[in-house]
Amino acid sequence: MRAWRSLRRAAASSSFSSSPSSSSSSSSPSSFPADGKPRRRAWEASLSPLERVRRLLPPEEAAAVAQCAAAAAPAQACPQEEKEEEVVTAARFPALVEAAGPRPGPFRAGELALAEVRRKHNSTLKLLCRLAASAVLTSPGGVLPHRDIIGQLPGQVLRTSGGARLLLRRPSLEEYVLLMPRGPTISYPKDISAMLMMIDVHPGDTVLETGSGSGALSLFLSRAVGPKGRVLSYEIRDDHHHLAKKNYRHWRSAWEIGHMDEWPDNVEFILKDISTAAADMKSVTLDAVVLDMLNPQCALPVVHPSLKQGGVCAVYLANITQVIDLLDRIRSCKLPFLCERIIEVTHRSWSVLPAKIKNCKSSQMVETQENSEEPPHNEYEEIHIQNQAALKESKYNESLCDAAETNHSVPYVARPAYWQEAHSAFLTKLRKFRPLLS
Ligand SMILES: C[S@@+](CC[C@H](N)C(=O)[O-])C[C@H]1O[C@@H](n2cnc3c(N)ncnc32)[C@H](O)[C@@H]1O
Repeated sequence: MRAWRSLRRAAASSSFSSSPSSSSSSSSPSSFPADGKPRRRAWEASLSPLERVRRLLPPEEAAAVAQCAAAAAPAQACPQEEKEEEVVTAARFPALVEAAGPRPGPFRAGELALAEVRRKHNSTLKLLCRLAASAVLTSPGGVLPHRDIIGQLPGQVLRTSGGARLLLRRPSLEEYVLLMPRGPTISYPKDISAMLMMIDVHPGDTVLETGSGSGALSLFLSRAVGPKGRVLSYEIRDDHHHLAKKNYRHWRSAWEIGHMDEWPDNVEFILKDISTAAADMKSVTLDAVVLDMLNPQCALPVVHPSLKQGGVCAVYLANITQVIDLLDRIRSCKLPFLCERIIEVTHRSWSVLPAKIKNCKSSQMVETQENSEEPPHNEYEEIHIQNQAALKESKYNESLCDAAETNHSVPYVARPAYWQEAHSAFLTKLRKFRPLLS
């Protein structure tokens, strides 16, 4: 029973290629072969779903799961091919697969698949496709027919015609909005999560957004308010209105094919200039408002009467001058908003890689042990870091030194990633208040 609970827990939280659990499993003794050859990433080995889940568990629970599975599968011949094993596992243990999480099934035609290709410097290229039996996925490493993906469980590594490895899985909402067709610039997911926090949105809430744009924010609001909530999304431009609706529809329809639950149909896309929508506002009470548009100050006089007392209006602005214009309009028009916060959300990506230390002339050299398929190119020959150790990425093939191997005390090199996202926005949190009657 304990094993089944662990199995469910581990499977529900498993994003196995990036989870801390999976990275710790890759540092287990079995992932440090004595031959000193470069190791393969855990996700590159085609493991059965059961095996993947088992590797996420602590050893004693993993053993219990293995026993449990063995008991459920009486002495039948094990399939030789890993591909067959996937199918057989799902067929033999449907209850196990069902219990493992909300997305148990294999890929089906019509749903979205995301292919990840490992690139140099620990980076990943992501390709999004909607699966259709007659289509092919084109990657820099060759093509892969969609029919080879359909029927596979997400998490499978497949090879293209050119021999490149692709990890296939279902996209997250963040990945979808970053890769879907765009008209105007989207609100970036890092900023969206901060805005969702600012407006303190709950399931069942009614939220107004302007403008719909490409529909990225609409999708996140849709998920946050849930099936009992409602999103009113205003857009002045016809082409943007239709694109937002299309992106929303595509996500919903793909979701329904790949998941057991339905994505809520709770966004009303309205083609209208928000400054002319005063009449619409009379019939609604808004729990929150999110503005991502030029001149959001034009929208405030229209939407504020419908926003509940104490409710929040979050405004997404590209530069600080626009923030000043907004606050100046609130002050000069005596609009009932207090500015609680203005924030810029910055993320700094880091790279953490196994390294080896060796003496080279007088200085101590630290080399990253890139765990990728190809040796990285020699673009970053020597970079001096704080402790003056030289970082070299050019020599890839040598094994970890014996002492490190024996003691499992592998050194790591940690540093900000070479590639940093530059996009930035200013998020302004306005709280509606009731002015004192004098
Ligand atoms: C930056 S985009 C919004 C992107 C959107 N948040 C997303 O995540 O995809 C700004 C949108 O506001 C729309 N817009 C500008 N002024 C408007 C107004 N007065 N009423 C309604 N929409 C407006 C623009 O046409 C544009 O599509």
